[in-house]
Amino acid sequence: MSNLVVLGAQWGDEGKGKVVDLLSERFQVVARYQGGHNAGHTVYIGERKFVLKLIPSGVLRPGVRAVIGNGVVIDPAALLEEIDALEAAGIDVRGQLCISNRAHVIFPFHRMVERVSEGRPDRVAIGTTSRGIGPCYEDKIARRGIRMADLVDPESLATLYRSLAEDKNTTARAFGVGEEFDYDGILARYRAMADRLRPLVCDTAKLLNDAIGQGQNILFEGAQGTMLDVDHGSYPFVTSSSAAAGGASVGTGIPPTRIHGVLGVSKAYITRVGGGPFPTEQDNPAGERLRKAGNEYGAVTGRPRRCGWFDVPLLRYTGMVNGFDSLIITKLDVLDELDRIPVCVAYRVGGRTVDSMPATQREIDLIEPVYEELPGWKCSTRGISQWESLPPRAKDYLKFLEERTGIEAGCISTGPERNETMILPNSALARLLKMGTA
Ligand code: IMP
Repeated sequence: MSNLVVLGAQWGDEGKGKVVDLLSERFQVVARYQGGHNAGHTVYIGERKFVLKLIPSGVLRPGVRAVIGNGVVIDPAALLEEIDALEAAGIDVRGQLCISNRAHVIFPFHRMVERVSEGRPDRVAIGTTSRGIGPCYEDKIARRGIRMADLVDPESLATLYRSLAEDKNTTARAFGVGEEFDYDGILARYRAMADRLRPLVCDTAKLLNDAIGQGQNILFEGAQGTMLDVDHGSYPFVTSSSAAAGGASVGTGIPPTRIHGVLGVSKAYITRVGGGPFPTEQDNPAGERLRKAGNEYGAVTGRPRRCGWFDVPLLRYTGMVNGFDSLIITKLDVLDELDRIPVCVAYRVGGRTVDSMPATQREIDLIEPVYEELPGWKCSTRGISQWESLPPRAKDYLKFLEERTGIEAGCISTGPERNETMILPNSALARLLKMGTA
């Protein structure tokens, strides 16, 4: 039996959707533990493209139970839209999906609060996805939020909604927001959506713990990436949830003692969307080339992603806070055409090498990355699924990343399709997955 967490080792968009879809074949349950519809996981199956925002990618495997945990924030309209689109594509969402009764609900006025906060001239804009994610988590922590259990209970909803709507009215007036909210209309719409979602809402902590009791295996799916974690990421340029591995326990109600391994997903280079520090960013033709070759545009917002070279100190840091057993390196093929591939191997600040991740934006901005260059392999690795078939210089590049980060690369992805992947037979990853085979 083995329950594993799989999450982003960088700033998100590492290709987790494909990885979770691939691994979910070996698990009976896949559970999301944080974030909301700010995440965008793209999965290609044959000719078909699926963009999943809230629903765990495991839902694409018939029979796999997909769970949205208590740590997730849910916009019911976005969720229903996703359910409808998946059902239209023939996926049995209603047969496979369970939604935590403790997950918090996003309302339209959360987006209004976000616009006010992001637009204020005295605040540094985070460059959020404008989905109301942060303000919903604010209400959760402030203990005035509305949870799925309340949404589907008409009496509870009426009372809590009145109080929350009044709170937002006060905020809107204080900030001179001209926008008029039709609070009664919103309530009526949410009631109608609650009717559709009610059959899917349950105590998912119990469901998951019972599943473990019956010997089932659970894959916990992180959204965003470790550097966007509200505690361990590049604060304040982070999302508002616990994206790091520890969040899997908090965001699902599974004790840490029931989690057996952690897998980090990392691109063979690195990207970021939104504002904030980025030591190895290439805001130049080299970055543009990566963006083009890797089609680096946000799955949710369509924004061009900032691109840069693989950052070893960052990976060592995210490896430390997550305890990665193995890395899954994606998009190796994006580097195919490069003559030389720089890798950041150390950070220097003021002429001194630093061996920990600075905590503040000011300090991170002072980082001067130290690069080593590796020769490119200059041929296509697209679709290669055997280690032996990789060009020697691609193997050297991957071994270099392993050596310098101190974390094994147990799986390599060479294209967006399920079969464009290799799992290395003697890796910790292979051992963990073998344990996971039912
Ligand atoms: P929020 O999550 O919408 O509050 O945005 C906070 C920060 O996280 C912004 O920099 C976003 O661009 C970033 N972010 C949120 N979700 C994702 C994601 O799925 N991939 C990459 N970046 C994300």
